[in-house]
Amino acid sequence: MYVRLRPLLYRLDPETAHAMTLQVLRLIGSLPPLASLLKRLFAPNDLPVQAMGLAFTNPIGLAAGFDKDARAWRGLACLGFGHIELGTVTLRPQPGNPRPRLFRLPEDGALINRMGFPSAGALAVAERLPARRPRGVVLGVNMGKNRDTPLEDAEQEYMHLLEIFAPKADFLTINVSSPNTEGLRRLQERPQLEHLLRSLDGRRRELEKTLGKRLPLLVKLSPDLTHEELLQALEAIMAHDVDGVVATNTTLSRSGVTHPLAVEQGGLSGLPLFERSLQVVRTIRSYAGASLTIIGVGGIQGAPRTKAMLDAGANLVQVYTALVYAGPAVVRTTLKGLLREC
Ligand code: FNR
Repeated sequence: MYVRLRPLLYRLDPETAHAMTLQVLRLIGSLPPLASLLKRLFAPNDLPVQAMGLAFTNPIGLAAGFDKDARAWRGLACLGFGHIELGTVTLRPQPGNPRPRLFRLPEDGALINRMGFPSAGALAVAERLPARRPRGVVLGVNMGKNRDTPLEDAEQEYMHLLEIFAPKADFLTINVSSPNTEGLRRLQERPQLEHLLRSLDGRRRELEKTLGKRLPLLVKLSPDLTHEELLQALEAIMAHDVDGVVATNTTLSRSGVTHPLAVEQGGLSGLPLFERSLQVVRTIRSYAGASLTIIGVGGIQGAPRTKAMLDAGANLVQVYTALVYAGPAVVRTTLKGLLREC
């Protein structure tokens, strides 16, 4: 059915199609009979995973950026995702970059985006999260700094975000790797990252005591780090008891991309990113041993790529672009294939 619907969606500009999809999922998620129907259609078999003290019904999650403002997570959960990473959320509301800022490159199975963190702001997003943990889906929140916040003040902003989301999120991801907020990726450099993580880990420990729950903290990394930069970032991450790494965000590289829209500025996601993300995950696992949870993300579509990412050392995976190209059955079909291969 999605294959038939796709050409209609493609007549719309990508951001309008995305907004419509979110609206439909939000509506379905708010109507229990429709939500159960969607679940019956798309719910996958369970393939339970334990990571960071959390129980996931399966290893496939939805990557950050799809439901930035936590509007549609109930509907998205009906598609079978074991976890959903909401956000990126910024402390204050901001509009993001001017449109157009999202481009489809279907022949390459890729997207380019320069969204620039459009966000309803932390307070509005936190209000949309349930007070009690929902059943069957783990909810993470990905946090980023506002565009107009100088890098020197980023730490304070991440602290605020941590405090706002700690009571409600199952895990928190520090985004220091989006290519669309100027200077953000410099926070991956070892001295800056050490500084940021020292403060956040300290505050996280205090919040864990007050709230009486574990609060796993992850860092999302760029695929464009050199080998040396990646190792430096990992040293900082491991020195500060961070629970995990999300690898990777989108890339500035256009290697292997043939579509004319490759000239658009922004981060590339989808199939051309897969080999690089896989390599980053492999490097992280061999450097960190078993101690870090790794969420592998980048160009994952279908069971063979999912398996390759898990074999490379990822505990969990996430998809974004595959949901756009393969449609709402992406989790169910991937898990079916994975269970056959395992
Ligand atoms: C993203 N991604 C992203 N990541 C993030 O940490 N915060 C964000 O706000 C966004 N926003 C966003 C918007 C759009 C339109 C896309 C396509 C992607 C990156 C995403 O989470 C993921 O890391 C990459 O897209 C790679 O995975 P896929 O898409 O190849 O499965």
